[in-house]
Amino acid sequence: MTQDELKQAVARAAIDYVVDGEIIGVGTGSTANFFIDELAKIKDRIKGTVASSEATAARLRGHGIPVFDLNEVESIAVYIDGADEITDTGAMIKGGGAALTREKIVASVSKQFVCIADGSKLVRTLGAFPLPVEVIPMARAAVMRKLRELGGQPRLRTKAGSEDAFITDNGGEIIDVAGMEIADPTGVETQINGIVGVIAVGLFAQRGANVCLLGTADGVKTLAF
Ligand code: 5RP
Repeated sequence: MTQDELKQAVARAAIDYVVDGEIIGVGTGSTANFFIDELAKIKDRIKGTVASSEATAARLRGHGIPVFDLNEVESIAVYIDGADEITDTGAMIKGGGAALTREKIVASVSKQFVCIADGSKLVRTLGAFPLPVEVIPMARAAVMRKLRELGGQPRLRTKAGSEDAFITDNGGEIIDVAGMEIADPTGVETQINGIVGVIAVGLFAQRGANVCLLGTADGVKTLAF
């Protein structure tokens, strides 16, 4: 099976976690996009969605699925999203698609977090994938110095084919930090959250996944944490 077929398989399996009549939180990225296409087939069963990015909101609306502002919503039954890396305890690195801050916000108000990922995303230790950190642009250099002190090699994310900084939906910039072997995800999340100028770090350990649907050659495996 190709990586896309594995992503499609977990997206299909995630429909079992959709709660009828409720608001569903929807993540960002290629796996989340496959999920949105599956959700479109059962859109009449749900009240609507909260999107974790402008791109996700546009795709949901394109399918005629209602998208609510989070400020209009009291609770979200389930949040369904991909990951760049996930451990066997449900801690994740996210933000490869630059939506980490809104993903964290939506996840934080959701009763359940269902991670959908192809098998390549399961790791023993987080950090081979460069850790995304969203920052206020004026704090970029100061935050990079602090990240170097923590042992990382920070690099500003740029727009494809350009040297200009990539700008997020929130007007922030993304620093990708290589070389971090993250033995204590919760501790590192707290440490980086404490750097002034950081909007959010793409470590999802304090609020990790409750379930991971992992696409493998032997079928979709369910890990519960
Ligand atoms: C976006 C994310 C994505 O969930 C993550 O990058 C995985 O993406 P994909 O499903 O395309 O592999 O965190 O900010």
